Order: sequence, then structure tokens, then C-alpha cells
Amino acid sequence: MGTIKACIFDLDGVVVDTAKYHYLAWKRLANELGFDFTHQDNERLKGVSRIDSLNILLEIGGQSFTPEEKLAFAEKKNNWYTQYIDKMTPDEVLPGVLDFFEQLKAAGIKMALGSASKNAGYILQKTNLTHWFDVIVDGTKTSKAKPDPEVFLLGAKGLNISPSECVVFEDAEAGVEAAINAGMFCVGIGSPAILGKANRVIPDLFEMNLKKLDF
Ligand code: BG6
Ligand code: MG
Repeated sequence: MGTIKACIFDLDGVVVDTAKYHYLAWKRLANELGFDFTHQDNERLKGVSRIDSLNILLEIGGQSFTPEEKLAFAEKKNNWYTQYIDKMTPDEVLPGVLDFFEQLKAAGIKMALGSASKNAGYILQKTNLTHWFDVIVDGTKTSKAKPDPEVFLLGAKGLNISPSECVVFEDAEAGVEAAINAGMFCVGIGSPAILGKANRVIPDLFEMNLKKLDF
């Protein structure tokens, strides 16, 4: 690609490992409803909004509820989830993230957050990361879930940078699709088997630096 002017980061699974807390909270709900929820099932929820995640979980358990009951379950899960977030510290920022952020800042490359989570602001605060981002787009600011490109397009717009000059870092299949749909270069974080649609795939941000950003 041409000049890179901005990097847009997904939060859960790229910058912090909150997937384990989502898993514990969803599993608790599944168990309460009388079925099991495995790590493999949890893969399907990555990058997916809260209510869509609940729908997938209920599909796995073969159960159906009214919209009101579903909202109550989603809230219950979120209360359990935020109890884990309450205890998060800056130590939980994933390896390599701060080094890479420092390099980007020094090079004058803009940074945005592009997350589906309504808890993103709170997680950034608990892990002391808020100050790094020029623009924060989270689940409270979007109306369409990934793979819709809205979250990343809002990020680019907020930064006043064209999508073709942005690189997105994503760990979820739906997120990779959202980035590609936004016309952005996408670096998948995780396994090439799951993130095959990304332009590049690396295991984690520890593997990333400014030199490698020259795509
Ligand atoms: C995404 C996670 O970042 O946020 C999903 O990958 C999660 O697993 C989604 O469901 C919504 O998060 P929250 O915090 O608004 O329930
Ligand atoms: Mg993610």
C-alpha cells in the first residue's frame, strides 16, 4: 500500500486479552441455563456484539426467549463481565503493544480504537491506555456491527485520514471483514486459518514494529 498515516486497533484480543473474561461470563450464563459452553464455542463470539453473542449462545444451547428476557440475560452477563474488568490493571496490556504504540507516536502516525465493545472506555481506563488514542470509536458510537465497516470508517473520519491510508489490527474474522469492507489494509492478529481474509497475519503485536509497517 502507499503511505500509512493511521493505525486503527481493535481492543479485545489485540490490545488486551478480555476474551477470557467474556468466556467466563458467557459460560456462567450457559451453565445457569443448563448447558455447557466450550472454548471452541467462544471463538464464534469474537468481535460479535453483545446481543448477537447471546443469540449465538442460545442457539448453541437450543433455547429461545422473548426479546425482554434476552435483554435481561445480556445485562446479567455484562454485570459478571464487568466484575472481571473492575480488577484489570495495566499489567494486562498484551506483550509488544506499548512498544509499538511508542514507535507510532514517535513517527507521527495517528492512532484510533475501533471496538465493538460498550465497555471499551472502561477497559482503556483500567489499563491506562486512553491517552494513546487520537480517536476512540466503540460500541456506544456505532449502529452496525462488524463485518459492517462503520466502526473503522468512523475512526478514519475522526482522524481526518482516508481509509486507504489506514491499517487495521484485528483478531476476529468479522473484524477482518469489516476492515476489508472499509477499504483498509488489514493485519490479522492470530491464526491464518481463521483470519485468511486479512492482507497479513501475525501471531501478536509483539511481532510488529515500525519497519514492518511498510506494506
Ligand atoms: C468485542 C468482543 O470486542 O466486543 C466480543 O470481541 C464482545 O466478544 C463485543 O461480545 C461486545 O462487548 P461488550 O463489552 O459491549 O459486551
Ligand atoms: Mg477482537
